Amino acid sequence: MIVTTKELFRHAYGKYAVGAYNINNLEQTVGLFRGNLGKSKSNDDPVDAAQSAPFILQISRGARSYTDKRFLEAMIRAADEVFPEAVFAVHLDHGTEEACYDCIESGFYSSVMIDASHEKFEKNIEITRRVVEAAHAKGVVVEAELGQLGGVEEDVVGSVKLTKPEEASQFIEQSGCDSLAVAIGTSHGAYKFTGTQGLRLDVLEEIRKAVPEGFPLVMHGSSSVPQEWVDRINNAGGALKGSSGVPEEQYLPAAKMGVCKINIDTDGRLVWCAIYRESFRDQPDDFDPRTPGKKFMPAYADYIAHKNSKLGSAGQLESARKTL
Ligand code: G3H
Ligand code: 13P
Ligand code: ZN
Repeated sequence: MIVTTKELFRHAYGKYAVGAYNINNLEQTVGLFRGNLGKSKSNDDPVDAAQSAPFILQISRGARSYTDKRFLEAMIRAADEVFPEAVFAVHLDHGTEEACYDCIESGFYSSVMIDASHEKFEKNIEITRRVVEAAHAKGVVVEAELGQLGGVEEDVVGSVKLTKPEEASQFIEQSGCDSLAVAIGTSHGAYKFTGTQGLRLDVLEEIRKAVPEGFPLVMHGSSSVPQEWVDRINNAGGALKGSSGVPEEQYLPAAKMGVCKINIDTDGRLVWCAIYRESFRDQPDDFDPRTPGKKFMPAYADYIAHKNSKLGSAGQLESARKTL
């Protein structure tokens, strides 16, 4: 069942964070739905209530244009039928104004992100306000971003600008956005932290105090870049440099400070890359595209279930469903 992120955040606020996972293809989609229902091995496994979680499926502009956005929509509609127990939002990740309008008009997306964080403060408000008006008229909710993360984000290479708490409250009031992505030290991609950098929970706490009570905050760039997966990739012929991401133990403390949505894309890519590389390494005579896919889907489902246990969303599905 497709719901808005606003409905999910109402249940999650202050208790846990909803995982927001990017998808690009069929295998990721199937693994994602299975993982959020605790069905690791097959679509026909029984739902595991202790592992089941509401989730956000997010689609970047790059994913929309990889083949044709209609393939993604069709795949998600099919997943909604194959997994009728799932409760999820369909969200545009890092949208431009144009992409937001396209998604709002499509009638398929329940939530869009307008990312005008690279613009000046007033201009960011102005653009976000326009998107909010168009979105709310169609029952779609809007995530905006204030501050700048590091790392690579679609076609923008960011330099870090932490979100200023006093600007966050003004931004929310004047833009009318439903949730706000804040820059608190994270960055996109596999190369996040070196040395003593890390998540600024102190800045997050100041933001929480400054914004209206119960207002949902969002954390981008939240992959943990597990060494285990980097090693598996490198042992199977990859050449990834060492790095560290957001420690999974910081997800719940952040959630308790009002972070309702935690964005994870890179970790899923690492799992994909490791499983496919290992498959090609271990079965050099096999050229069936389904061979690595059959290994990836359960591995990804297990990884999603693991992430949800760290986000605190595992086991929340039935309770969340009752509030819809
Ligand atoms: O923040 C960006 C997401 O990780 C999406 O990445 O634009 O390469 O699909 P992408
Ligand atoms: P990661 O690169 O840390 O997975 O962040 C993903 C993200 O923020 C998508 O919007
Ligand atoms: Zn992001």
